[in-house]
Amino acid sequence: MVLNRVLSPSHPKRLITVAAAAVLVGAPVIALTAAGPASAASTLRAAAEAQNRYFGTELTGSMPSNQTIASIAGTQFDMVTPGNEMKWDTTEPSNGNYNFSPGDGIVSFAQAHNMRVRGHNLVWHSQLPGWVSSLPTSQVKGVMESHITTEVTHYKGKIYAWDVVNEPFNEDGSYRQDVFYNAFGGGEQYIADAIRTAHAADPNAKLYINDYNIEGSGSKSNGMYTLAQQLLAQGVPLGGVGLESHFIVGQVPASMQANMARFAALGLDVAVTELDDRIPLPASSGNLQQQATDYANITKWCLSVARCVGVSQWGVGDADSWIPGTFSGYGAATMYDNNYQPKPAYTSTLNALNGGSVSPPPSSPPPSSPSASASASASSSPPPAGGCHVTDAVSAWNTGLTANITVTNNGTSAINGWHLTFTLPSGQTVTNAWNATVSPSSGAVTATNVSYNAAIPAGGSTSFGFQANHTGNAAAPTAFSLNGTACSVG
Ligand code: XIL
Repeated sequence: MVLNRVLSPSHPKRLITVAAAAVLVGAPVIALTAAGPASAASTLRAAAEAQNRYFGTELTGSMPSNQTIASIAGTQFDMVTPGNEMKWDTTEPSNGNYNFSPGDGIVSFAQAHNMRVRGHNLVWHSQLPGWVSSLPTSQVKGVMESHITTEVTHYKGKIYAWDVVNEPFNEDGSYRQDVFYNAFGGGEQYIADAIRTAHAADPNAKLYINDYNIEGSGSKSNGMYTLAQQLLAQGVPLGGVGLESHFIVGQVPASMQANMARFAALGLDVAVTELDDRIPLPASSGNLQQQATDYANITKWCLSVARCVGVSQWGVGDADSWIPGTFSGYGAATMYDNNYQPKPAYTSTLNALNGGSVSPPPSSPPPSSPSASASASASSSPPPAGGCHVTDAVSAWNTGLTANITVTNNGTSAINGWHLTFTLPSGQTVTNAWNATVSPSSGAVTATNVSYNAAIPAGGSTSFGFQANHTGNAAAPTAFSLNGTACSVG
């Protein structure tokens, strides 16, 4: 699957709106949604920037010179990943001969549209020119380091983040035994060496390892997690983990949010780097709706994890996507159709970026409940006369956890404005939350509704969640009370 389409960032110049700036202070993710529909942005990039995120696209080949594509790219997206132009087979087709013009073209496009650039990529087994694979083993390390140093130096100051090492894992979580692995005596030390070399050439670029099928939990994702831990323990300047996210419609792993959270809890950035969601052709309307749900979920999960810095789609529209050429029988994988009209996934993604209206809480607000005043009324709302019930689902890893909590109003009248108090096991510290504000971060904490989920009708329920660090005790919280009334749990 090496068919090159061709061609190119980096002054952020971000338009942080007043609403966004206000919200960024202290930045619990849930607060970001409070801006509400009144300040809803009309492009993906503006909506993402208001959440201190980016929304990116891949550009390659003739895409920037197609007016339709260029116009959507420059208007809707604020990050560009070159699809092929910075890969080894383009940048160093023969030993020591470098060609940066295709990549420079993408960078120019990005700069002209106030977009940043994710550099992609430096070390990868694929799209690797034959001369590298046929080198005597003893020369691979030197050649790899020269390649990295030359390319990163060429783009120094213009790249937000580099995919330094791409796709280093097999599906079972073992290392791919490629030319680089083998040259380092059959070891993953090449990864540390590549990252250190890139860092020396551009200390300001965020340095990533990027892979696919690591979006949810599983052996491959665990392999990446272990590697990330090891690299950080060795002081290697790893900055982030890229989740490629080439999905099949309806098969986005439910564990993706918790998985992003565990990488973030290591102190790393996380990015969705190559999102597409392929559909068997011809695409049914049901599948297009499911795709909209998939895109919205991924976007919301990224917003819920403080260190998830952004989402990039792989391509602009279905007509330029790599999917039909690579996965026979599949297509329709992006947010724009073959005629560059926005699909349901576009609308759901924009809504998700604008504050979660995609998946409203189970309760619908009562007719007379203006959402703006809802949170203010939280503390004065009466307790639920018939009591309340809580279910919690905790998903933990060695140093962190995510908790998803659903609270049901068992009373006979609606609640308008709620606070749920509970006790966190010792050693747990909340780092961020969604669909509620949670404070303080440990001990006896209170979760308070946000504007859009203040109302819980009689018999209705609402859900929120949080991420926490722990020191060994990942048990669920206890002693829940809703507006002062103790709740049953289970
Ligand atoms: C793809 C490009 O989109 C194609 O044009 C090319 O023919 C093959 O590579 N993972 C990656 C990307 O990291 O570089 C790949 O891009 C898609 C899978």
